[in-house]
Amino acid sequence: MIKFGASLLTVLTLASTALTSPAAARVREVASFPVGAWLENLAVRACGELLVTRVEVAEVWSVSPVSGRKNLVARFPDTTSATGITEIEHDLFAVNTGNYSAQSGFTPGSYAVWTVDLRGKVPKIRKIAAVPSAGMLNGLVALPGARVVLAADSVNGAVYKIDLRSGNATIALAGDAFAAPPPPAYPLGVNGVHLKASSLYFTNTGAGTYSRIAIHPDGTAAGPVETLRDDLELPDDFALSPNGLAYTTVNQIRSIVAIDTKGARVQIAGGANSIQFATPTAAQFGRTVSDRTTVYVTTGGVRDEAGTAVTSGKVLALTLH
Ligand SMILES: *[C@@H]1O[C@H](CO)[C@@H](O)[C@H](O)[C@H]1NC(C)=O
Ligand SMILES: *[C@@H]1O[C@H](CO)[C@@H](O)[C@H](O)[C@H]1NC(C)=O
Repeated sequence: MIKFGASLLTVLTLASTALTSPAAARVREVASFPVGAWLENLAVRACGELLVTRVEVAEVWSVSPVSGRKNLVARFPDTTSATGITEIEHDLFAVNTGNYSAQSGFTPGSYAVWTVDLRGKVPKIRKIAAVPSAGMLNGLVALPGARVVLAADSVNGAVYKIDLRSGNATIALAGDAFAAPPPPAYPLGVNGVHLKASSLYFTNTGAGTYSRIAIHPDGTAAGPVETLRDDLELPDDFALSPNGLAYTTVNQIRSIVAIDTKGARVQIAGGANSIQFATPTAAQFGRTVSDRTTVYVTTGGVRDEAGTAVTSGKVLALTLH
């Protein structure tokens, strides 16, 4: 657990009370990738460095939040895409991979979980589990102290529980709240997943919902789903603040929207015509003394009607105030 200083609590309290009136954030571009790069998710190392996954190639890149310098950290073989990333223990990360292309979409049966080990001099990667029954593994979160991750399957509308020791993958959570809604809605269900105080918070992209469910230590349901918001314009992943504000990337309106634990929403950054915030995919708080109130956001960039990339994926920093 991270211990947060008084200054952060002050900032977050202000951000929380600001939910009744629009709260703006200062935006800085940290890094820009080549046109066509789609940044999909991110995790933050204890040293402060950002780890970013790409969905059009099966790669993880590190990005310095200070200089913007980028380095390739891992490239996964025999797969074409990387999605969710989460830290399991200090400098050991789990990453979802699978086959995706703009032309053919997701390949069900191709998804797997890898670890990226940054504890030594050179990064080491290892395939931990194939999850052949998954349609498309997306958001990823580690259960505390258990070497078990929960992975959102956005196509089949379920949350898998994957034991990183045995590679055993079973469905922990499923049901309407996790499922993609019927056509003509966007065909992705549960997407971002994060834990706080033994509840799993999650978005459902097609349904436009942000919900929570109490879970047992093994990831299974300990209560009913409570939907906090049902009007989000294609929500993707989000960052949870210590006081429970969800800084949510909302694809269709190219925005970061904060949602509190009672379901109140407020626009924090971006806007329907924003180029910078097209297409926001994930968010995470910084972890060092100097950036604990900064929310880092990954984007996929602008694509035209034919799906051709027009602008690059970016890493943005929002300083909350
Ligand atoms: C995924 O893509 C890789 C690389 O193109 C290919 O070798 C592999 O057979 C694909 N897997 C599936 C399940 O389609
Ligand atoms: C995998 O999980 C299932 C369901 O919980 C269990 O029955 C099975 O024994 C587990 N297999 C391994 C190898 O842990």
